Amino acid sequence: MKKPKLVVANWKMHLNVHQASLLVNKLDKKVSLHRGVEVVIAPNYLDLQPISLEIDRRKFKLAAQDGYPIDEGSYTGAVSFAQLREMVNYAIIGHSERRRYFSESLELIRDKMAAAIRNDITPILCVGETKEEKQDKETKQVLHDQITTALSDLTSEDIESVVIAYEPVWAIGGHNPAKPKDIEQAVSWIRYQVGELYGKLAADSIRVLYGGSDEPEFVTGIMEVDGVDGLLVGHASLDAQQFADIIQAVYLVSLSDPKG
Ligand code: PGA
Repeated sequence: MKKPKLVVANWKMHLNVHQASLLVNKLDKKVSLHRGVEVVIAPNYLDLQPISLEIDRRKFKLAAQDGYPIDEGSYTGAVSFAQLREMVNYAIIGHSERRRYFSESLELIRDKMAAAIRNDITPILCVGETKEEKQDKETKQVLHDQITTALSDLTSEDIESVVIAYEPVWAIGGHNPAKPKDIEQAVSWIRYQVGELYGKLAADSIRVLYGGSDEPEFVTGIMEVDGVDGLLVGHASLDAQQFADIIQAVYLVSLSDPKG
């Protein structure tokens, strides 16, 4: 059976508890429940608990933006996947901002993937090349290294729940997403890597998202790219109207998806 389309709001380090609650309220009014489209909100750790009590779980699921790979212990400042498991269905792992500002290594990301799965949380693994890597034509190599390391401790059963988001770093936070042709190439390369590790069935069924300047005017074109199953939305998800428009566009594309 075809998995639903997935739209994830990555709120990053924005919104205090009050602001997050207001936005959830607005979204609840603007977003209708659509079969075939799963909507996930990823607030900061502090906002997770109050929001988990407020949201209509039929409409919205929750994701953590990160998690610590060890389940419990003396790790000041950290929050583990084991602590998050009751609260979230998903966790974003290996976002380029974590790789960049928090020096996350390929191996740390591998351990986080395993920890999320161990705690029944669906990991959304972010992969993508920087501007320099794109200029140097290293995109394929970068994606290969990020994917093979991140998945290396997972079994073929584990892989069934994994989501991969292609997020070219140079497209994040701006108004220029990657071109559909480039997204198609990257997504098909991602599926090829998964196929090499886990076989064709896994390659075909894994959900692959696109993230990086997902704004309402672009998302229909992006969702029509072969192999794209959803979006990881940053700044546009902080605006209730824009995010609702994005969800509506994804829903409309899902209706005309021959595999839908
Ligand atoms: P953006 O961010 O939509 O603001 O480009 C996407 C992301 O970082 O996940």
